[in-house]
Amino acid sequence: MKLDKINWTNDLSIGNINIDNEHKELIEICNEMIDFIKLNRKELEFDKILSKLINYTWKHFRKEETYMLAMGYPKSTEHIQYHKDYNQKVATYYDELFRSNPPEPIEIVKFLKNWWTNHILHSDADFENHKKATQGTTTYSGF
Ligand SMILES: [Fe+2]
Repeated sequence: MKLDKINWTNDLSIGNINIDNEHKELIEICNEMIDFIKLNRKELEFDKILSKLINYTWKHFRKEETYMLAMGYPKSTEHIQYHKDYNQKVATYYDELFRSNPPEPIEIVKFLKNWWTNHILHSDADFENHKKATQGTTTYSGF
């Protein structure tokens, strides 16, 4: 399978610069993992990069959830569940890295690449569109 880095393009913008900037940072960390695999950069430690992603994601989700609830986004519960499912999946991958028969980094990266691009394009874009349609330029703490 061809494993290309995730290119930030305007397609991935949800139209909120603060959220976009955090998404860029998350994608940057995923790209570090792709470098690790493609360029065989052994000086990078895969579990450390994954742990960095987990920490950053945790803060990002909390802010995003606060933001959705503050605007009264009707699909907040569903969206928060997507975050929970993701957290659980990634935590399992992380644990498994330290067991016998650890998952291949490429398997984890494929999941991450797919999840983040889909989630940003569909789920995250949806709450921002909802906000723009119903509340214009009102801002909420968090983002
Ligand atoms: Fe989200």
